[in-house]
Amino acid sequence: MVKFDFQVQATDGMARKGVISTPRGDVRTPAFMPVGTAATVKAMLPENVRATGADILLGNTYHLMLRPTAERIDRLGGLHKFMNWDRPILTDSGGFQVMSLAGLRKLTEAGVTFKSHIDGSKHELTPERSMEIQRLLGSDIVMCFDECPALPATDKQVADSMRLSMRWAARSKEAFGDRPGHALFGIMQGGVTPELREESAKALTEIGFDGYAVGGLAVGEGQEAMFGVLDYAPGFLPHDKPRYLMGVGKPDDIVGAVKRGIDMMDCVLPSRSGRTGQVFTRHGQLNIKNARHQDDPRPIDDECTCPACRNYSRAYLHHVFRSQEIISSMLLTWHNLHYFQQIMDGMRQAIAQGMFTEWEASFHKGREAGDI
Ligand code: GUN
Ligand code: ZN
Repeated sequence: MVKFDFQVQATDGMARKGVISTPRGDVRTPAFMPVGTAATVKAMLPENVRATGADILLGNTYHLMLRPTAERIDRLGGLHKFMNWDRPILTDSGGFQVMSLAGLRKLTEAGVTFKSHIDGSKHELTPERSMEIQRLLGSDIVMCFDECPALPATDKQVADSMRLSMRWAARSKEAFGDRPGHALFGIMQGGVTPELREESAKALTEIGFDGYAVGGLAVGEGQEAMFGVLDYAPGFLPHDKPRYLMGVGKPDDIVGAVKRGIDMMDCVLPSRSGRTGQVFTRHGQLNIKNARHQDDPRPIDDECTCPACRNYSRAYLHHVFRSQEIISSMLLTWHNLHYFQQIMDGMRQAIAQGMFTEWEASFHKGREAGDI
């Protein structure tokens, strides 16, 4: 049986190209993970998500425990079978989503109790329960149960929260146990304070994980502050394990993160934006809703090979968006996911060739064009 493994195949500056091996297949890194929160990447069939170039999806403990419940998914054969995706799945652990989505919450040393955003029912998540849910789902990469303080927060709040997350990381590891073929990732916290980030990294590496996430970023601190943390934080983590930046981001965030040593990322941006008419291209962003597209026979991007660009005009995409036709979400999501995966592919090739700096310059140059 294939074990969980990670190999760095090439480096260029801090950027790394590699591969994560799992019993469900390989993940080429740097990797972008489309978000499949409720056991679906919205508006996409799994085989079409795969066709965009995705090797791995992200699922959410918080949403799935509430509906349809982890126990039901387990009875039905696990999340892979349930949603018809047989490749790797990483699941987030729930704490972060409780803080952003749930109603009335209560945080203690034990964990967090909260009210469901769906029906107001009461639930509890602890490190032990999060590990159990992620096991019932059949997740390939399980995330530690952590807490991410809401901004603005004082230094003391950030430090206390980080130390709580580190105690929860130790309990997560204990509860996860020994599960060959499955991986457990720790999550570094500590806000934008180098000393706290270092303390967090030390606590996690002492416990020992299969991979390490950088959490607590992209929560409103801005790109400059985020890159500031990424200038040093990946260096606190082991070179031979994958590094995952949670919840990032826009195309230029992703490129900047990879440049600083990040191997994996996830974000709802390409899929969510697809449903709101926001389109990402090599030349920047456009909104298909804009009236200037209504007579435009050109595709979104004449070099893009996705179905939206090969078979449809901007005029058509504008029309179906304005008419609230379901195909609008399908086509724009497909294009956005395809474009994000093209960025990852371009970076992997550039790192292998020692050309990351040149690739990055052409990425930024393409976006200067202005009117697209
Ligand atoms: N998603 C985005 N940021 C975070 C974080 O800090 N922790 C967890 N668990 N998920 C996240
Ligand atoms: Zn396209």
